[in-house]
Amino acid sequence: MCGIVGAVAQRNVVPILLEGLRRLEYRGYDSAGLVVVHEGGLERVRSVGRVQGLAEAAAGHGVHGHTGIAHTRWATHGAPTEANAHPHISGELAVVHNGIIENHEALRHRLMDLGYRFTSETDTEVIAHLIHFHLRSEADLLRATQKAVAELAGAYAIGVALASAPNRLVCARQGSPLLVGLGIEENFIASDVSALLPVTQRVIYLEEGDVAELGLLAVRVYDREGRPAAREVHLSELSAEMAELGAYRHFMQKEIHEQPRAVADTLAGVLGAQSIAPEVFGFEAAEVFARTEQVLLLACGTSYHAACTAAHWLEAHAGLPARAEVASEYRYRASVPRPDTLVVTISQSGETADTLAALKQAQALGLADTLGICNVAESALIRASRLRFLTRAGPEIGVASTKAFTTQLAALFVLTLALAKARGRLNPEEEARHIQALRALPQQIADALKLEPAIAAWAERFADKHHALFLGRGVHYPIALEGALKLKEISYIHAEAYPAGELKHGPLALVDKDMPVVAIAPNDALLEKLKSNLEEVRARGGELYVFMDHEAHIAEQDNLHMMRVTPHAGVLSPVVHVVPLQILAYHAALVRGTDVDKPRNLAKSVTVE
Ligand code: G6P
Repeated sequence: MCGIVGAVAQRNVVPILLEGLRRLEYRGYDSAGLVVVHEGGLERVRSVGRVQGLAEAAAGHGVHGHTGIAHTRWATHGAPTEANAHPHISGELAVVHNGIIENHEALRHRLMDLGYRFTSETDTEVIAHLIHFHLRSEADLLRATQKAVAELAGAYAIGVALASAPNRLVCARQGSPLLVGLGIEENFIASDVSALLPVTQRVIYLEEGDVAELGLLAVRVYDREGRPAAREVHLSELSAEMAELGAYRHFMQKEIHEQPRAVADTLAGVLGAQSIAPEVFGFEAAEVFARTEQVLLLACGTSYHAACTAAHWLEAHAGLPARAEVASEYRYRASVPRPDTLVVTISQSGETADTLAALKQAQALGLADTLGICNVAESALIRASRLRFLTRAGPEIGVASTKAFTTQLAALFVLTLALAKARGRLNPEEEARHIQALRALPQQIADALKLEPAIAAWAERFADKHHALFLGRGVHYPIALEGALKLKEISYIHAEAYPAGELKHGPLALVDKDMPVVAIAPNDALLEKLKSNLEEVRARGGELYVFMDHEAHIAEQDNLHMMRVTPHAGVLSPVVHVVPLQILAYHAALVRGTDVDKPRNLAKSVTVE
C-alpha cells in the first residue's frame, strides 16, 4: 500500500526519492508523485501508473532539490488520478500520507468554511490544509504539524516539506508505519527500511503518536505529548542486494526458490539444540504455555491460511482447542474471551491494519497472552505482542506471499511442539522424530522445486481457463485454499478451494471439461476418501491435476494427471505440498502475461482497513 520516502541532503535528492519509490513498488500502488524544495518554492511532479513514468516526468521537467518527499499511492479516497496523487500542496507546504483519516469529512467542511479550496478527493489534502491553517498561528512547521495531527482520527504516516524551510522535513505516525533513516549529514524517512538501503542501514522506528523533525545534522523525535523522546537507533540486518532480483525473472520466482534457505534460517535458532525450548518464543513463554488451554489464531490473506493449518496441528498434536479467524472479522465481532487463551497473530509484514486491530481487540478483551509470528523484527505486531517469533524469510517483495507462508508454517509447527511438550503430550522419542522431520524439510522443499518444468507444462493448460477448483482434505484443505488464492491473485483465473467432501454439496454443479480441478492427495488417512471425490469429478468430465506423495496410489485414468511431489512428509506434508501450487500459479500467470509481482488492485502491505 502507499509508500513514503523523504530526504534532506546536501545533494540532489530526486534520485534517492525515485530509487526509494522503486524499492517500495512491491507494496502495491497505482500512482506516484514527488515534491522538492527548490529556490524557495515547491516543484511537484505526479503521474498515474508506474514509478518509471514519474522518473521520466521528473527528468523531463529537470526537477532538482536538496529536500523532498515522495509517494506511491494505492487509491482509497478518490480514483487513481494525477489530481489525487500525492504530494498534496497547501500554500507553500506539501504532504505525503499513508493511512486513512476517519474524520476527514468534518475537517474538510471546517477548512472549506475557512476558505480553503480542495483540488482532490483525497483525505490527505485535509492534512495539508490543516497544517497550513495551524502554521498561520504557530509559524513553526513542527508545532503546526503537532497541532494538526492532534486533530486527526484514524491512521496516518505523513511527511511534510515547507518551501521556506530548505533542509528540513517533519514527519509523524499513528497506526501506519514510518521510520527515520540516519545518514552522514543527510537524513531520510520511509515506510520501510528497504526503501533506504542504498543510502543507510541505520534507522529509528517511530512509535505510535511520534512526531519527528529532520535536519541535515540532527533528528529530533517528540512523543504524542510533545516531549522530546529518545528512540533507539537500529542497524538493519537487510542489505540492498537482498531485495534485488538477481538471475530470476520475477521476485515471486526468486522467493519460491529461496524457500529451502528461508525455512532453514527460520529453524536455525530452534533446532540447534536436541529439544524444543519454549524460550524461542520469548522469555515468558514457558509460563504462558503452562497456562494455555486454547489457542486463537488471527491473520489475513496467506497468513490466515497458515493459521488454519496450525489450528489442525494444535488440535491433533497438542490436544488444544484451536481456532483460526480472519482478523477483519474478529476485530468487529462480539466474541467470548476465555482468559486461558493464547492469541497468536501471524503476519509477514507485521503492519497489516486488520491484524493489528484484531490484536488490540483481543488485548482490550483482557487476553494478555499474545504471540506475534512475523517476518519483520521491528514491526508494530512484534512490538505489541508479549511473545514473539521471527520468521527469517528475508524481504518478500512479490505481492503474492510464498516464502513467508512456508516459514510461518515452520514456526507454527515448532509452536505446536512447544505447546504439546508443555502439556506432557510429547515424549522424547516423538520430539526427536519431529526435530528430524523439521531438519529434513528444507531438502524436501528443494526436491519439490525440481518439478518446476513439469508444473510449467501443466500451467499451459490452465492459461485459457476462466475457473479452477482446488480440493484438499483435513490439514491439506488450507493448502488448497492457498493454492486457489495464489492462482487468482496473480493469474486472475477465478479459483475456489473446497474441502473435497463438500464437493457434492454444490461445486460439483460447476464441473465440466473447462473447469480444471487441482487436488492435493498425500498418502494420509484421508486418501481413500479423496479418491472417491476425484471419481465424482471424473464422472462429470472434469480434468484432474493431482499432486501426491510417492506412497500415494491412484490408478492411471483418462483426464487424470498425476505428479509425485515428495516422499511422504508426514505431519509436515502441507509445507511441501504448497510449493507446487505456488509454481503452478506463477507459471499460469506467466503464460497469461500478467504483472506477476504487482498484480492489479492488490497491495503487499495492507496498512489500511
Ligand atoms: C496482502 C498481501 C498478502 C498477504 C496479506 C496479509 O493481502 O497481498 O500476500 O498474505 O496481505 O499480509 P501480512 O503481512 O499480514 O502477512
